[in-house]
Amino acid sequence: AHLWQGVINEYRDRLPVTDSTPVVTMGEGGTPLIQARALSELTGNQVWVKFEGMNPTGSFKDRGMTMAITRAKEEGAKAVVCASTGNTSASAAAYAKQAGMRCAVLVPEGKISMGKMAQAVAHGADIIQIDGNFDNCLDVARKLSDSYPVFLVNSVNPYRIEGQKTAAFEVVDALGDAPDYHILPVGNAGNITGYWKGYTEYSRPYVNAVGEELPAVATKTPVMWGFQAAGAAPLVAGHPIDQPETIATAIRIGNPASWDSAIGARDESGGLIESVTDEQIIEAQRFLSSRDGVFVEPGSAAGVAGLIKKYREGAAPTGAKIVITVTGHGLKDPQWAVKGAELEDPTAAEPKRVDFDVVSVAAAL
Ligand code: F0G
Repeated sequence: AHLWQGVINEYRDRLPVTDSTPVVTMGEGGTPLIQARALSELTGNQVWVKFEGMNPTGSFKDRGMTMAITRAKEEGAKAVVCASTGNTSASAAAYAKQAGMRCAVLVPEGKISMGKMAQAVAHGADIIQIDGNFDNCLDVARKLSDSYPVFLVNSVNPYRIEGQKTAAFEVVDALGDAPDYHILPVGNAGNITGYWKGYTEYSRPYVNAVGEELPAVATKTPVMWGFQAAGAAPLVAGHPIDQPETIATAIRIGNPASWDSAIGARDESGGLIESVTDEQIIEAQRFLSSRDGVFVEPGSAAGVAGLIKKYREGAAPTGAKIVITVTGHGLKDPQWAVKGAELEDPTAAEPKRVDFDVVSVAAAL
């Protein structure tokens, strides 16, 4: 049996590391690619979800963070900083501590879920709430790292993207080739950038950091479909959004740092970036949890919401192999899952109370 070694060790010949790099890992990656039977049946495709909630801190951010913190350690950094809607801060806080570093996180006031805040607290991060949104936080984090001895670990750091591209490698390794479509949520646009880089590098011979030429692993690249929340969809509008709003706080972002590379991924792959409403996001989160057994946070369901939307418009493919990244675990932000269930049944979160005998329990079912 193979014991998974984390994304840097698993894919080190395609990452910017050397034999002397001090790898900081918590065994991230190697996440399940789950057959989504109900979603496949509904849309007439073969649909899998890449369940990134199974990473050590519960989101896809750990793939990029192992690389960014490893790089910080290699450079001798004592402290790191990030702006975050919650998941990046949870990941940075955990990996920084694993590396013996201090971690400062800048978060938008009142707009980060309880689960994610709890993680930053638990890992002893220096948490600063900013009276502004994620874009304001990122602006301050960048300036802080320009002027002070603190290493920036947001996805504007190219090492983050290097780590995140490994998710595309895993999909190809699992399916034997690239899927026809890859669908994912888009916020700051680091993830779509990472996936597209990974798929592209895997589809052609690749000359690595030590000058070795590695053969192509995939015969093609997928069509990339990205989905933003309707109230926070600058890439759809074509201009930054000053006051982004959505219940999917993970992707409440008005001016994505990786704007150009997201548009590049869309256009080079012949894909699209569109928006889904908060209602569609909650409905998709509910569909995935109640029909396919996979529990994700609202922002994570934007890709699923997008596929369902396109299917209803008659604009989805049929008979295609489709992978949807579900980016973070449902336990990060459970309140919306309960609300989603209550939309179908107002008493869903009030279990029946019966006496402790088998006849009463059976009668209540
Ligand atoms: N899904 C989740 C659960 C996220 O936390 C994020 C981003 C995204 C999707 C979007 O990914 O930014 O690469 O396009 N969260 C960041 C954070 C912004 O601070 O945790 P992206």
